Amino acid sequence: MIKPNVYVTRAIPQAGLDEVDAFCRMEVWQGETPPPRDILLEKAAGKDGLLSLLTDLIDADLMDAAGPQLTVVSNYAVGFDNIDVDAATERGILVTNTPGILTDTTADFAFSLLMGAARRVVEGVDYVRAGRWQTWGPRLLVGQDVHGATLGVVGMGRIGTAVCRRARGFDMKVLYVDPACGLEEGAEQGAVCVDMDTLLWESDFVTLHVPLTDETHHLIGAEAFRKMKPSAVLINTARGPIVDPEALYHALKNGDIAAAALDVTDPEPLPAGNRLLSLSNLIVCPHIASASVATRDRMAVTAAENLIAGLKGKRPQHLVNPEALDRGP
Ligand code: DGY
Repeated sequence: MIKPNVYVTRAIPQAGLDEVDAFCRMEVWQGETPPPRDILLEKAAGKDGLLSLLTDLIDADLMDAAGPQLTVVSNYAVGFDNIDVDAATERGILVTNTPGILTDTTADFAFSLLMGAARRVVEGVDYVRAGRWQTWGPRLLVGQDVHGATLGVVGMGRIGTAVCRRARGFDMKVLYVDPACGLEEGAEQGAVCVDMDTLLWESDFVTLHVPLTDETHHLIGAEAFRKMKPSAVLINTARGPIVDPEALYHALKNGDIAAAALDVTDPEPLPAGNRLLSLSNLIVCPHIASASVATRDRMAVTAAENLIAGLKGKRPQHLVNPEALDRGP
């Protein structure tokens, strides 16, 4: 049997590569950083499948460079804002993602950021490392209580719901906004569905769990910060451009909010000289919310299974654009 040709845009965990290798003729980009655009265009040419990362722009030009045999783009992520799904659907290309698998791992991390920012953990570590710790201090690095506080969840999908479950253990009151307001998961957790203004006015912590779309781009900007409490903490583990970075800088600098913790930034990666990094009330991590060994292994196997199913002419388990099935070759 002739094996399909696939390009894997980064060395994902071995368990996934082994599955792809067993069924396909596979080429893997071995760089630490994403393949440059010209290489990606060149490598995609003639491939039947691509196993891509959120750092690869998979647009119409790339699909056309790949050629009409391209059948499936399997994204190693739950988010797929790096892919022009409409362009893929028009061309009958299946797009898949890895939902569900990273829900709890990401929620764990969102909650770690929430606690870290509330209790100024990173500032504390920096303080000790800088040799500034001289005594126990009654005013030293005082932060916000997490227990009993009000959490505002923007987007009560899988990850938002999982964060909400963790908040219950800390006796938090949970408010949320979601297009499907009143949806069962939120209600089950005792969360109260409110409008965005109420969430911003009343929350001590605001955590973002919506996909990046035209509607959510800069959803949290100057106007939103004006509505938040001066003691509020913002957590973003979703996508960087949901927060306007200029507005965030001014809000943190002027004390419009107390702190923020980001796992995702705009731009991403955030350059070392970016002025946001000069702020002590901001924690920035390098997009690692799903980075546990077990979860990354499962993401790799799932991405491989999605890819192989598509190449076999089957319906992949996590198909983003079922309409493409009607247009396929
Ligand atoms: C995703 O899957 O979309 C995360 O951002 C990375 O795991």
